[in-house]
Amino acid sequence: MPVITDINDLKRLHKRRTPKMFYDYCESGSWSEQTFRENTSDFDKIRLRQRVAVDMADRTLATEMIGQKVKMPVALAPVGLTGMQRADGEIKAARAAEQFGVPFTLSTMSICSIEDVAENSSAPFWFQLYTMKDQDYLRRLIQRAKDAKCSALVITLDLQVLGQRHKDLKNGLSAPPKFTPAVLADLATKWSWGLEMLQTKRRGFGNIVGHVKDISDPSSLMSWTAEQFDTQLDWKKIEQIKDMWGGKVILKGINDPEDAVMAAKVGCDAILVSNHGGRQLDGALSTIRMLDPILQAVGDDVEVHLDSGIRSGQDILKAVAMGAKGTFIGRAFIHGLGAMGQDGVTKALEVLYKEMDTSMALCGKRDITEVGRDILLIPKDFSGDWQD
Ligand SMILES: Cc1cc2nc3c(=O)[nH]c(=O)nc-3n(C[C@H](O)[C@H](O)[C@H](O)COP(=O)(O)O)c2cc1C
Repeated sequence: MPVITDINDLKRLHKRRTPKMFYDYCESGSWSEQTFRENTSDFDKIRLRQRVAVDMADRTLATEMIGQKVKMPVALAPVGLTGMQRADGEIKAARAAEQFGVPFTLSTMSICSIEDVAENSSAPFWFQLYTMKDQDYLRRLIQRAKDAKCSALVITLDLQVLGQRHKDLKNGLSAPPKFTPAVLADLATKWSWGLEMLQTKRRGFGNIVGHVKDISDPSSLMSWTAEQFDTQLDWKKIEQIKDMWGGKVILKGINDPEDAVMAAKVGCDAILVSNHGGRQLDGALSTIRMLDPILQAVGDDVEVHLDSGIRSGQDILKAVAMGAKGTFIGRAFIHGLGAMGQDGVTKALEVLYKEMDTSMALCGKRDITEVGRDILLIPKDFSGDWQD
């Protein structure tokens, strides 16, 4: 195994071993990619306070997210087409998460279906829901997640319409890929990916194909979202979906204090401060900048989680110290999966754990649940002084 010191090492391997179409799908933001870039670079603006001569023995990162015990305050975020980064990718990621002791979230737009993942893993996972126009399909999808004993529903609110990612259009993104000359030339250099892919039957959108009629192109994420996603989603409908589900709910895609207050009012077990990893509204502020105003707006009314831009254990430590109860990672685990399959996801989690643990110790703390703002140095204008 190559020496992996950080998530960037996994990213380099991911790029080398995965077809360009799928690597680009992961490593892109919408339009100019400003929000995508700032999600990560804004973490660097927050600094940590170095403390010495404190007892650093017997440390723990264990905590809870929506009442579930986690080995560290991290969950795997829902990522569409994970099973195209590596054959059976969702199953591999779910198993790595389960063995490590953190939650896995399965996307509606996954390759392995809800049933596939349930049959091939043993810990209950979380299911991410995109809201659809087709009420019958929506109801059946929720029922399938219930039957699979999913332990939380993550309802994504920031993708009623799709933000344009230029590379996906240029690459002709589809699952499975269409064999154009450019795709074939690329696949010739990614033969181990291809060999694994030939050995699985899971190559289309597992939660969709065979469950829905009348899609013009079942292999295209773009036509599916344009035709099926509910552009009229509102808070009332969210309440109805919550009632249909009847279990724990996380509302994902909140990046504004007013929406956070609405989400808390509708009632949920957590809100996930997210801008979809910079893939939707380009020009939106990074989530780490929005976290403070959102925390101030909701107070103790609801548990607050954060994703978008996390590439290190220090990023997680900063988000938690600022007040997030948990975080989600998207690309950080996908880089691991694309690099080395299930072992790569485990490696990504180990890297993040070690970075977080050592940094927490060097800040003079031993227990993640006791980490607070006193370990941070936050620039005075960090959240910005913006005119409405
Ligand atoms: C390739 C890719 C696919 C994604 N697909 C979904 C999805 O199907 N559903 C969803 O709610 N979020 C999706 N997201 C957003 C992630 O859940 C998460 O919000 C984001 O990746 C966090 O940013 P990070 O990648 O910088 O950690 C996707 C993100 C990426 C990178």
